[in-house]
Amino acid sequence: MTKHSIKVCMGSSCFARGNLENLSFLENYIKENNLDADIELVGGLCQEKCSTGPNIYVDEVLHSEVNQDKLKDILKSLV
Ligand code: FES
Repeated sequence: MTKHSIKVCMGSSCFARGNLENLSFLENYIKENNLDADIELVGGLCQEKCSTGPNIYVDEVLHSEVNQDKLKDILKSLV
């Protein structure tokens, strides 16, 4: 399987809008499901799309207004 990359915007707007929680959710999910080898999780700077945040890029594709339900769907589609 190719390794996927998830970039979580850590700019102050996305961070305040929910990416702090989204990041810890992702970290836990990856750990609990032993997905370290399959998913690379990185933080990113503000992508200048703050109004639609919190933003996350999955394999370079932008996902906006991300919450845990959306993350679960995204993760299921990846692995
Ligand atoms: S803080 Fe995430 S796009 Fe600006």
